[in-house]
Amino acid sequence: MKGLVAYDSVYGNTKQIAEAIAEEIRANGHEVVLMSVKESLPEALDFDFAFVGSPTRIANASRASKKVVKRLAKAGFGAKPVVAFDTILPGVLEKTDRWGRTAAKVMTDLGKAKGLNMREPSLHATVKDMKGPLADDAVTLARTYAKDFLAALGK
Ligand SMILES: Cc1cc2nc3c(=O)[nH]c(=O)nc-3n(C[C@H](O)[C@H](O)[C@H](O)COP(=O)(O)O)c2cc1C
Repeated sequence: MKGLVAYDSVYGNTKQIAEAIAEEIRANGHEVVLMSVKESLPEALDFDFAFVGSPTRIANASRASKKVVKRLAKAGFGAKPVVAFDTILPGVLEKTDRWGRTAAKVMTDLGKAKGLNMREPSLHATVKDMKGPLADDAVTLARTYAKDFLAALGK
């Protein structure tokens, strides 16, 4: 299989998670295109699955990462699985007000509204503070998520 891992990142934490996902997919014998959402996506989106990641900022995903989700929907990604992932501050998932919204939730809702097959639960990685670093278990959790995702596809 061939997957796309596209990420946005200001301080490098979400990029590290994207790299861990890409490494795990490659370690399982699949091909990956790893790219920033700020680069132009390939013309032919001939991927079997995609991961799109963004830091959570003001309870939202970045504009560029949401654009990738919209582009996948426009490209007719159809039933192919898409995973939204993000980085978040500690405790955010327990919040029930708007500050409990995360980039991955926003992208998952957007993708679903556009007819994409968004995988749930999405993947959240915690940063210890505003600029990072990642929580100690974040890279391991991301690799495990990617491995389980491939296993669920039967690959
Ligand atoms: C302006 C700003 C707003 C932020 N808002 C949120 C937020 O609403 N929720 C949250 O969990 N983290 C928030 N954060 C923390 C970011 O999630 C954190 O900077 C990000 O995960 C780091 O990822 P990066 O290194 O890939 O940029 C905010 C950070 C900044 C700088």
